[in-house]
Amino acid sequence: MKARVAVLVSGGGTNLQAILDESQRGNMPHADIALVVSNRADAYALERAKAAGVKSMVCLRPGLEKKLLEALKENRIDLIVLAGFMTILSENFVKQYPERIINVHPALIPSFCGKGYYGLKVHEAALAYGVKVSGATVHFVNEVPDGGRIIAQKAVDVLDGDTPETLQRRIMEQAEWVLLPRAVEQVCKQIVEEEK
Ligand code: GAR
Repeated sequence: MKARVAVLVSGGGTNLQAILDESQRGNMPHADIALVVSNRADAYALERAKAAGVKSMVCLRPGLEKKLLEALKENRIDLIVLAGFMTILSENFVKQYPERIINVHPALIPSFCGKGYYGLKVHEAALAYGVKVSGATVHFVNEVPDGGRIIAQKAVDVLDGDTPETLQRRIMEQAEWVLLPRAVEQVCKQIVEEEK
């Protein structure tokens, strides 16, 4: 048996791609990537889902959460993965999926996280502070933005001359794309074992 996964995206979808690639390689035996949901109609991530033959849909505000909940139920989704999903889900939504939503954040929580810290802004803040190490965190999602229990973290060096873009790329390559597929498989395995 496999756990059914929905991946929520907003943009380029490189983290989605990392999950699809690892799944394709046979390294995620407990995960079935069943659905991709975007809150933007023009997200390139939707092309990636299509190329991989994964069902996808767009949910826009207003009504995003209602539509999303219906789709999750219809597709019998066990685990929700936020992979560059740039909107905060309400407390009411999150409470319906306790320890069944995970997120990848491009810094070492509790640094450079919470409301307003997303995408390149996170790396701009890390460079402005002058940290020598940053990284990525995969964590469960609760009602506090970036506040849920940590599943995995990986440190990445900040180098002299880094721009937000070069730092973002290094953190993706060395941390996010490695940690996220692994964490998804780990949580899916737990779900499958609990249901046995
Ligand atoms: C990733 O760096 C992800 O960690 C970050 O946005 C980027 C999405 O890239 N997410 C957040 O900042 C959430 N707070 P992708 O669309 O190529 O996966």
